[in-house]
Amino acid sequence: MKFYQKKDQNMTYAKIISTGSYLPSKILSNHDLEKMVDTSEEWIITRTGIKERRILADNESSCDMAYNAAIDAIKNANISTSEIDVIIVATVSADMIFPSNACLLQNRLGIKNIPAFDINAACSGFLYALEMANAYIKSNIADTILIVGADAVSHYVNYKDRDTCVLFGDGAGAVILKRDNAPGIIITEMHADGSGVEFLHAKAKIKNGEIVGDPYIHMEGRAVFKTAVKSLSDVANSLLTKSSYTKEQITWLIPHQANIRIIEATANHLNLPMDKVIVTLDKHGNTSAASIPLALDYAVKVGKVKTGDLLLLEGFGAGFTWGGCLVKY
Ligand SMILES: CC(C)(COP(=O)(O)OP(=O)(O)OC[C@H]1O[C@@H](n2cnc3c(N)ncnc32)[C@H](O)[C@@H]1OP(=O)(O)O)[C@@H](O)C(=O)NCCC(=O)NCCS
Repeated sequence: MKFYQKKDQNMTYAKIISTGSYLPSKILSNHDLEKMVDTSEEWIITRTGIKERRILADNESSCDMAYNAAIDAIKNANISTSEIDVIIVATVSADMIFPSNACLLQNRLGIKNIPAFDINAACSGFLYALEMANAYIKSNIADTILIVGADAVSHYVNYKDRDTCVLFGDGAGAVILKRDNAPGIIITEMHADGSGVEFLHAKAKIKNGEIVGDPYIHMEGRAVFKTAVKSLSDVANSLLTKSSYTKEQITWLIPHQANIRIIEATANHLNLPMDKVIVTLDKHGNTSAASIPLALDYAVKVGKVKTGDLLLLEGFGAGFTWGGCLVKY
């Protein structure tokens, strides 16, 4: 199922009217990690581009982060919570087995009687949520939608495993989407390939009150790296071809923040200089579903992304899942 259309000024669009974010205050630096595993600041920076990541406090949860990011986006949109028609939270680290973080968030925001649900598509979750929100708005189910990407990835990180512990951090990013006649989301395209499970997973489940299986992230980095670069390049080509936009028209590439070398390879494929790419992973590492909205919010707040810019958002994660979205901001 694909939702897209050619450039058409008379269409209804889902437009991003605001962004918001939240990062926990605790910083885990590369030097901190040097004391925990056999690694070095030099290795981490050259192989990943990450300088530090944020870790939530003991009394903080992924829903707390989602709430803070949501409040920021709601304030920046200058809307009342009563205007929100749907809440979608992209996460792999909800506070409870059930109900969803979206329902917990709805309750915290004091909103009654609207649909609220989580999406689990790992690092691609925010993009999956954007595609779904776009479809809701285009099919007249909703006018105003709150999307939050929030992940407490540190809960699943084994801080004795140098292959993974240097990569991940916690955070949340949010957007408000609203129906508009002016272009907003132009085209989305999502993919999944479940055969990727062996390369990237946290396999545990709860059974009879016990954790069964390994709850920590396992990743075969080299295989994930290669598949990510190929998939992200393919989806970028496909989005441009179907929408009739050109590489040259992209104002900003806002990619999932996993590894600077993946980001550089994707930009290179698009002939985009790195000064047209939003990079925030040095400050917070890979925050899973929070990564793209965190990067977008940063770019808006520092004045890089401006009204009318053409944004290419894209991401890749466990599943495998991947996708992209062209947006007029
Ligand atoms: C994980 C990743 C950074 C590893 O970088 P890489 O260049 O592929 O490195 P390799 O896995 O080939 O490992 C190279 C060497 O560094 C070592 N190494 C791994 N982690 C290390 C660390 N934190 N510090 C120091 N050395 C490390 C390996 O053991 C290996 O040693 P060897 O050559 O003696 O076997 C990279 O593969 C990656 O980013 N993968 C994709 C991650 C991703 O995109 N995830 C997105 C989905 S969420």
